[in-house]
Amino acid sequence: MPKSGSAENSINPPLWLLLELTYRCPLSCPYCANPVDLGDPADELSTEDWLKVLEQARAMGAVQLGLSGGEPLLRKDLEVIVAKARELGFYTNLITSGIGLTNKRLKALKDAGLDHIQVSFQSADPDTNDAIAGKRKAFETKQELARQVKAHGFPMVLNFVISKQNIENIDAIMQLSQSLEADYVELATAQYYGWALQNRDQLMPTLEQVRTAEAQVNAVRDSQNGVGPRFIFVTPDYYETRPKACMSGWGNIFLSVAPDGRAMPCHSAALLPLSFPNVRDSNLKSIWYESELFNKYRGFDWMPEPCRSCDEKEKDFGGCRCQALLLTGDAANADPVCDKSPHHHKIVSAAESAAACRNGETLARTVQNSQIIMQTRV
Ligand code: FES
Repeated sequence: MPKSGSAENSINPPLWLLLELTYRCPLSCPYCANPVDLGDPADELSTEDWLKVLEQARAMGAVQLGLSGGEPLLRKDLEVIVAKARELGFYTNLITSGIGLTNKRLKALKDAGLDHIQVSFQSADPDTNDAIAGKRKAFETKQELARQVKAHGFPMVLNFVISKQNIENIDAIMQLSQSLEADYVELATAQYYGWALQNRDQLMPTLEQVRTAEAQVNAVRDSQNGVGPRFIFVTPDYYETRPKACMSGWGNIFLSVAPDGRAMPCHSAALLPLSFPNVRDSNLKSIWYESELFNKYRGFDWMPEPCRSCDEKEKDFGGCRCQALLLTGDAANADPVCDKSPHHHKIVSAAESAAACRNGETLARTVQNSQIIMQTRV
């Protein structure tokens, strides 16, 4: 384990801080990448705890702040957290479903100094949107809310998680984004972690669907002449042969804090069989520089073959530790997306299995009184 003094010289500070303020959520999307076990809402950090995390992170050099969940609007102290972040000099981004974001709350967040809002949609078609979200009138609420976000002068990102259920609607999704005057639009295929992995076969579009949608996005982009939203299309890495540089490297620039205070190098790390430092017990500086968790896959020395001798390791860091664990059983293995991995066949067969799946019924969950209730939905 590196000593604090030397570690600070050789390790970058965390630039990107993500606070997952709560896992509570009014929606029950089948592509949710949050853990299968959402823990006990009674264990959420207090306002004071979150403010302390902000102070410690900013003192270490963090500049970008994401406030997410679950649905962060369910925290009544959101405005207090935003105001503190603003006072400390963070650039703040609220990542929300939009459900519960009233005009009054938008004004309060603006007054508190919020910089930026990302609103998720599930589809451009109201019925499909509401079926995926598991909430009636969710589309109508989001559409109205998105208009108010712009009316309050916020830069706005719209986020559509793309799956089999909406990929053939992508032209309508882009038209909706244009009409709502979004600044950026993320059209990102689901990431198969946490709950989403349960639904991978039902969610993952085929390669042909992905290629068609990508061409549609490119055609719109080419016709825009720099006018209108900037569309960003993210394909599933299951169709790649080289892994993504997940989190820009473990413990490199990104630090996430779960609702119960566990500090992690990515928001999915909770599934790793490791012990997690908690901001209730340790300060962020010692967690970042000295904890076993953050040093476990930092840099390159931990890598086994084929990553160790790979001339691309500084570009992709061996891919995603969480995906390696989920699909190969060992987080230290090369991400099986890489075709140099002896486990790459698992990615290929998962994509084949998803392509063969004609069952559109996904498994959704809602949490009531700390109990997970599951239901199937078309
Ligand atoms: Fe955890 Fe990629 S999501 S390292």
